[in-house]
Amino acid sequence: MGESSQLTLGLLGGTGKEGSGLALRLALAGFAVQVGSRTADRAVARAAELKGMVEAMGHAARLTGNENTQVAASSDLVFLNTPFPHAAALLEACRPAWRLESVVVDVTVPVNFETGKVQLEQPDGASGSEFLARRLPQSVPLIAAFKTIPAHLLADLHSRLDCDVFVCGDAQTAKVRVMEMASSIEGLRVIDAGPLREARTLEHMSALAMQLNRRYKIKAARFRVVGV
Ligand SMILES: NC(=O)c1ccc[n+]([C@@H]2O[C@H](COP(=O)([O-])OP(=O)(O)OC[C@H]3O[C@@H](n4cnc5c(N)ncnc54)[C@H](OP(=O)(O)O)[C@@H]3O)[C@@H](O)[C@H]2O)c1
Repeated sequence: MGESSQLTLGLLGGTGKEGSGLALRLALAGFAVQVGSRTADRAVARAAELKGMVEAMGHAARLTGNENTQVAASSDLVFLNTPFPHAAALLEACRPAWRLESVVVDVTVPVNFETGKVQLEQPDGASGSEFLARRLPQSVPLIAAFKTIPAHLLADLHSRLDCDVFVCGDAQTAKVRVMEMASSIEGLRVIDAGPLREARTLEHMSALAMQLNRRYKIKAARFRVVGV
């Protein structure tokens, strides 16, 4: 039995664009996936919709929905998929839910579009991931991943992802678990991007991809390292 049959993956804010796209690709890879929302009903409805999309591709899917804190309490890897300004409060609400083995996978990018341009923020002078990691109990590692994978592409199950996924973090065992999980997704190659301070680089890359999408009128700019 592969690890994908055993791990339960939870997506906080999984009803959104990025979380739903990841839910689809993770369910296709064989993982049990829980879609999280502030509202359980919304999560259940979204999970049913995504399950139908995977099944329409001829694959079985283990996709369920629940309220965010319930998802955090019952998942092995907990993805953070809300807009960055709401992420710290959501982690705080999940505080009673963390278990000894919990790992947070941070997908958020601290950007704002208030001026009409893509602007990267530097909360407390750090990367978004370092800022959020400081808000978790020391026993819960935070690993940054998937920040450069476009939601639009994740949602289109007829398109190959065909790119690299960059993973960084300071907790080695947790990082390896996340890298192994990510390598189960068809079309992704996993790159170890180093310690958590490199999250800043990944956030810059994500902001650059958004700018490239605008400039070239495309929807899924993404990255692949050559020579690795
Ligand atoms: N879109 C992309 O291509 C992409 C790529 C890489 C990374 N990201 C990052 O992924 C994250 C999600 O992006 P997205 O495009 O999926 O955003 P989104 O669709 O706008 O929102 C995701 C979810 O966040 C939840 N949410 C909204 N306000 C909230 C609040 N105040 N408190 C708690 N949850 C709240 C909502 O779920 P409920 O209403 O169901 O609770 C919503 O479905 C962002 O940090 C983004 O930077 C996005």
